[in-house]
Amino acid sequence: DTTVTVAPASLDFTAVPKSLADVVAVPAGYSVTVLYRLGDPISGSVAAYANDGSDTNFAGRAGDHHDGMSYFGLAASGTSADTSNSSRGLLVMNHENITQSYLHPNGPTSTNGVRPTAEVIKEIEAHGVSVVEITRASTGAWSYVAGSSLNRRVTPFTPTSFSGPVAGNALLFTAYSPTGVAGRGTINNCANGTMPWGTYLTCEENWAGYYRREAGDNARRAAALGAKSVVAFTRYGLSTGSGDTLRVGNYGWATAAAGDSRIAKFNATVDATKPANGTGDFRNEPNQYGWVVEIDPYDPSSTPRKRTALGRMNHEGCWPGRTVAGVKPAFYMGDDAQNEYIYKFVSNTAWSAADATPSSRLAIGDKYLDSGTLYVARFNADGSGQWLPLVFGQGPLTATGYATYAFADQADVLTHARLAGDALGATKMDRPEWTAVNPVTGEMYCTLTNNSSRTVANTDAANPRAYTDPKTTGGQTNGNANGHIVRLRETGDTTEATSFTWDIYAFGSGADLNAQNINLSSLDATNDFSSPDGLWFARSSNVSGQGTPLLWIETDDGAYTDVTNCMLLAAIPGTVGDGGTRTITNTLGSTSGTQATRVGKTSGASLKRFLVGPKECEITGIDTTPDGRSLFVNVQHPGENGGPSNITSTWPQSQATGTGTGRPRSATIVITKNDGGIVGI
Ligand code: FEO
Ligand code: CA
Ligand code: CA
Ligand code: CA
Repeated sequence: DTTVTVAPASLDFTAVPKSLADVVAVPAGYSVTVLYRLGDPISGSVAAYANDGSDTNFAGRAGDHHDGMSYFGLAASGTSADTSNSSRGLLVMNHENITQSYLHPNGPTSTNGVRPTAEVIKEIEAHGVSVVEITRASTGAWSYVAGSSLNRRVTPFTPTSFSGPVAGNALLFTAYSPTGVAGRGTINNCANGTMPWGTYLTCEENWAGYYRREAGDNARRAAALGAKSVVAFTRYGLSTGSGDTLRVGNYGWATAAAGDSRIAKFNATVDATKPANGTGDFRNEPNQYGWVVEIDPYDPSSTPRKRTALGRMNHEGCWPGRTVAGVKPAFYMGDDAQNEYIYKFVSNTAWSAADATPSSRLAIGDKYLDSGTLYVARFNADGSGQWLPLVFGQGPLTATGYATYAFADQADVLTHARLAGDALGATKMDRPEWTAVNPVTGEMYCTLTNNSSRTVANTDAANPRAYTDPKTTGGQTNGNANGHIVRLRETGDTTEATSFTWDIYAFGSGADLNAQNINLSSLDATNDFSSPDGLWFARSSNVSGQGTPLLWIETDDGAYTDVTNCMLLAAIPGTVGDGGTRTITNTLGSTSGTQATRVGKTSGASLKRFLVGPKECEITGIDTTPDGRSLFVNVQHPGENGGPSNITSTWPQSQATGTGTGRPRSATIVITKNDGGIVGI
């Protein structure tokens, strides 16, 4: 199926204008329903959400900051899977972070620098993952099933297990799991993956921010674990303050409840008075996060499994390439931080179609995700690229091959994949976010959301822009302020390839920036956007009869929010190489330079704005039912810049009229076409 001809289709909707209103706006002929909001009860024993900061028990409610999301079909009744059912399913979604101020009556509190334990538990349990049953009534209306036995919250407290090459390694030894095979919870879950065997992958992104380290901990860590441990912590954003001073960590959680190891684990300080990995010692806890985690959504009692073969980083998402019988499957991943890398994991096991309907889903995950090769991408100026293997003993990945860091074994390489990517000379990208795979061509797309640290001097062909975005308000934004979307085609169109060709599908930009050599994709008022983040191809089940799968693009923007709230666009993609080469001129401050690149062909007819969200939100998370007639989208952190005494959005209460009362809530919405058709076509 690698030679399918992609026929043209049309985007048969009227583009939604840019907007600063406090509503989700969609094209004429479509409807929006709010389905699942922050705090909505999913356990029969939990009270309705008061939304005034008094609520507790988030382990029985929807968490905050809805993010990556997948729909898994259920049989018409009972708990078994029916992946073709578009009327009853499990919606699985990440709760990446919190808008802390709205979770308490008057914002967060502390006494002499110590956070109240009850506040901290609430904040922690508002993170993680939801599994919630949803149904579509005969009227077409969707709702979630508050008392379903399949509903589940996975939080940073939920027991997890480790599998793959790092399981059992000393890097994972903790007081909780002295043999390094188990951990607690998952955190800062950003994007996701829907596995061909019916599981959900959730990806740990900005986990490092939550950790506390006491003053002098670099020195203590180096004495106890060697200087390389400090190199590793620093490379992963776990550094102490300047001059080895105190690092507090997000929300000050580790100040609370010294006796509760579930909370105290967020203090990674080495304390020489405590035995290594004994009671009260949490020196290795940060190694428990930064992984891709597999969840069987159909089994609420199953233990989430951390797939260490896929490496440790700021995992944005993990999306599978096409599965072809007899071919080893691949899984594409971005590491979202400035100047980080794009990765691919290729399983050691060739795909067997029978595994699409397994009796034990996590056992199939073991089969494909626990052994294989992790690669990192290098993009060459001539439009070629290589996948460089992260294999201990090869090239510089040895004890002596890389001056910055002595790799001990494969577990060390995977736990410190960033350092391995550095050693191999991978291409430093403009913040790799979601990956998506065209189900017809197999081409892989990756959003590069923006990079304020990109300079004219360090542009390269795949990250070619460094400029000053002349914003109308809110000051100027430098570097690659608006982001772009890179795509690649594997050599031989096979997931097993170790080389590829690439180009840049689209550049984010305001339409008004044509004259500045910034709007390289010639965006206009119907499709201009900034900071692409979420990215998803329509299910292959929607392709048949439509010619080509739609590509959906979601934004998480800071550079264009003076003009418009964040948005969702639909696209009819072309193919790698369709736009040819181009040399652009960059001007950033007083510095100018030229950079050759490869620009894909985009036009107003092939890219249109489908949705604009409410104030101060990010649009993220996306899936449809198998029939493509119900589109699920997440609205993350509306009103995030406000607080209880300064409410800056009242969405979703404002959805009907543009105004409302009460605190804003992250929420999942469902979009349907009023004539019952496939959304976006
Ligand atoms: Fe959580 Fe990179 O967005
Ligand atoms: Ca994201
Ligand atoms: Ca983002
Ligand atoms: Ca966000």
